[in-house]
Amino acid sequence: MSNVLATARPLGFDTLGAAIALYVPGNAATAPRYSTTGAALSSPTIGAALRHPTPTTAPSTQPPGPCRHTGGAGTSCTPAGRPNPGAVIRRGGAQGEPTATLSGAPTGPPPAIFISQDHRARLQEALRDFAKKVTITPKGGITDMRYKLAVIGVGRPWKTEGATGFGMAHAHVTGFTKTERCDLVAIADISRENAEAFAAQYGGPRIHMDYAEMLAAEKPDIVSICTWPHLHCPMTLAAAEAGVRAIHCEKPMAPTWGEAKRMHETCIARGVQLTFNHQRRFLEPFQTAREMVRSGAIGTLRRLESQCGDLFDWGTHWLDMMFFFNEETPAEWVVGQIDARTTRKVFGVPLEQQGLCHFKFANGVRATLYTGFETDIGCANRLIGDDGIIEIGWGDPVLRMSRWDGRGTEIVPVSEGIHDSAAHARVAADIVHCLDTGDRPLLSSHNAIRSTEVIFATYESSRRRGRVDLPLDTEDSALLAMLAQGLIGSEATG
Ligand SMILES: NC(=O)c1ccc[n+]([C@@H]2O[C@H](COP(=O)([O-])OP(=O)(O)OC[C@H]3O[C@@H](n4cnc5c(N)ncnc54)[C@H](O)[C@@H]3O)[C@@H](O)[C@H]2O)c1
Repeated sequence: MSNVLATARPLGFDTLGAAIALYVPGNAATAPRYSTTGAALSSPTIGAALRHPTPTTAPSTQPPGPCRHTGGAGTSCTPAGRPNPGAVIRRGGAQGEPTATLSGAPTGPPPAIFISQDHRARLQEALRDFAKKVTITPKGGITDMRYKLAVIGVGRPWKTEGATGFGMAHAHVTGFTKTERCDLVAIADISRENAEAFAAQYGGPRIHMDYAEMLAAEKPDIVSICTWPHLHCPMTLAAAEAGVRAIHCEKPMAPTWGEAKRMHETCIARGVQLTFNHQRRFLEPFQTAREMVRSGAIGTLRRLESQCGDLFDWGTHWLDMMFFFNEETPAEWVVGQIDARTTRKVFGVPLEQQGLCHFKFANGVRATLYTGFETDIGCANRLIGDDGIIEIGWGDPVLRMSRWDGRGTEIVPVSEGIHDSAAHARVAADIVHCLDTGDRPLLSSHNAIRSTEVIFATYESSRRRGRVDLPLDTEDSALLAMLAQGLIGSEATG
């Protein structure tokens, strides 16, 4: 397929039709028996069928997977869960013969193309494969434009020799590679050993020891930033100024609220697509839980609870998930406390040992995050509604629901865990899709900035000994400021 479509310009439906025509086995003038009209499937005919984007109401043949898109019946979904309006396939032919139909036409009744059962599966597979590699643009074109990818901070895989962390760059590049739309052209790392090992594993991108030099020399379209948090802001600002189109940065956003805001606002001002890797938004347990809330399974959502090791490094995931569960509703106020009599560092940032963060969303939902020592709440995430509770566990069962109507507790089957690496390909597919279309990615800084504000408002609440009404009007991290002043931390307890 890529041979047919290897071009950097938007592709028309007739081109797509030609590609599919090539992919339908036996689709030549010698195979009229597969067409109701007695004609072979020509590229313009398929192109005309694809040009008509109206979804049918026929039963969906959507491939199985974690997608929970709630679009019109019969639409297929991309890995990112977005509707893919160009490829509508229908079952059910005359005399019960199984057929596939590409439906739709600009005017009048949709043209029907009947294909034997043998060929249907292969056509569906070709369409699915094709849909993964292209995007339907807002103007109705199809693009398979390739993007130049560069990575800053490559690391070593977790628990391997020389590892200083998780080597998140490996997950990023694996995800972007799976889009089949990105070429890894360059990497930057201050460790030559790390860079050379990474380059050897991922196709030999050019190595730079200085990320600013790399940005200037390579002019990448997409930059992945996989360094520790204190470097996220300067690297994001440099990439935005260098003209990069999309920046995918690891969480947490930055060690201070002022830096996080600057990254977000600078990228908005420069039209740069900025995302943070809260990748769990793309995993099945979380998407299923949100769909269950949406479908009214636990009645009106009232409260959200979560538990993890700290507010900043892990907490950013669970706070982000709370906004995800509550439809990105803004928060109004935060009241919190931290215990930092002794501190520890995670990815170079000093953190409290224990914390409590309670806040209210604008729609009245209340949320509480318990962090650090002795904060086990019996699950990772709990969603509480008028009619029941949904819980996401750290292990088995991953997803369960209890309702007050006498049905008790039921385990909800899901095929993915809460740390599943399948998320990274979906993250990358969404980033590419949104670069193509101008849509807002699910991991957009517009979402990350909300959960980040709650982190720093919790620290601020501890400093003020009172509730913090949002928007947060300080720029620093109250935790880091209090530590620097000796108000908290080991020096204060000594
Ligand atoms: N999303 C998740 O689930 C998840 C999981 C783990 C870590 N993380 C986050 O990912 C980020 C990176 O963590 P990691 O574990 O991948 O780190 P890591 O230690 O594995 O890799 C960091 C790399 O950055 C390089 N580096 C340091 N300074 C640099 C500079 N000035 N220029 C270029 N390269 C430089 C290091 O040499 C190293 O190779 C952190 O913010 C962390 O919180 C996210």
